[in-house]
Amino acid sequence: MEKKNILTGIRPTGRLHLGHYFGAGKNWVELQDKYNTSIEIADVQALTDNFENPQKVKKSVRDLAIDILAIGVDPQKTTLFVQSMIPEIAELTVYYSNLVTIARLQRNPTVKTEIKQKKELFGEKGEGITYGFLGYPVSQAADITAFNGELIPVGEDQLPLIEQCREIVRKFNSIYGVVLKEPNAYLSENKRIKGLDGNDKMGKSLGNAIYLCDDEATIKEKIMGAITDKNKIKKDDPANPDVCMVYYYHKLIKNENIENVCNECKKGQRGCVNCKKELIEKMNEFLAPIQEKIHYYEEHPEIVDQILKDGSIKAKKTAEATLKTVKSAIGINYFE
Ligand code: TRP
Repeated sequence: MEKKNILTGIRPTGRLHLGHYFGAGKNWVELQDKYNTSIEIADVQALTDNFENPQKVKKSVRDLAIDILAIGVDPQKTTLFVQSMIPEIAELTVYYSNLVTIARLQRNPTVKTEIKQKKELFGEKGEGITYGFLGYPVSQAADITAFNGELIPVGEDQLPLIEQCREIVRKFNSIYGVVLKEPNAYLSENKRIKGLDGNDKMGKSLGNAIYLCDDEATIKEKIMGAITDKNKIKKDDPANPDVCMVYYYHKLIKNENIENVCNECKKGQRGCVNCKKELIEKMNEFLAPIQEKIHYYEEHPEIVDQILKDGSIKAKKTAEATLKTVKSAIGINYFE
């Protein structure tokens, strides 16, 4: 049986943090053995809200590729490519843009939330929203369908974008004939990773993230500042681990001592400072093999660039074939 196609993407606007890793990245590594996997570094999408900072996007493309390779994505198994190197995606976006209304895009919950978060860029009430940003779900549908994406490993926040893609696919197929595949989201067991401050989401803009490339001093400082049970005043007060971010991360990185951490915390036999020190140690152990690879690729940027180049050449071939099928379905395959 043919292997199913996995396609996912990530915007290059910074480095990978634990939220990315446990929310999606870990899945990418596990899925690459079973499926035909592609990962897109979505620089065109990143420009939709960073059009004034192209240099930030450019730098992040390689940084992100380094982090992706360091978590174990294997370029022999996964096609890692850069969105802007595949102009066919932009062309597909144009044809798909006819199949979605502006009202529908404005109702997309992910787009709505992002517009609210980006008031500086898009205005208090979103009155300065650009055509490009509002339309990025259409471009994401082009990303997915260009590679016949069937399973899309993403975090929960991306579900409305997958739904938007499914609608575009259905509309396309109903008008031009059944050509495109409807993708399904593939959620990880940890749908959403909490931040150091207890926020429901770890995010760059929230300033509550641990990055895979954080050095020991940074990790120490961040974990020392993590939120614990605020009702615990003294070192030997019993506490509730379920509201403690330190316990949450012990669990996340699978500290083998987790039962003790939990019981001692509940019984008041574990001070928060010691508990944090243990987490710092375990976190460094957890990150060490990843960081070793990060350093290797940082010293060999030419290897990273070659991987991206080869991946993009391969991806382009697939996208070219999809575009050809799409154009002939619409009937604009002249002079063939
Ligand atoms: N929207 C995703 C993000 O915000 C990135 C992305 C771009 C993507 N293209 C995709 C995700 C295709 C899944 C499939 O990071």
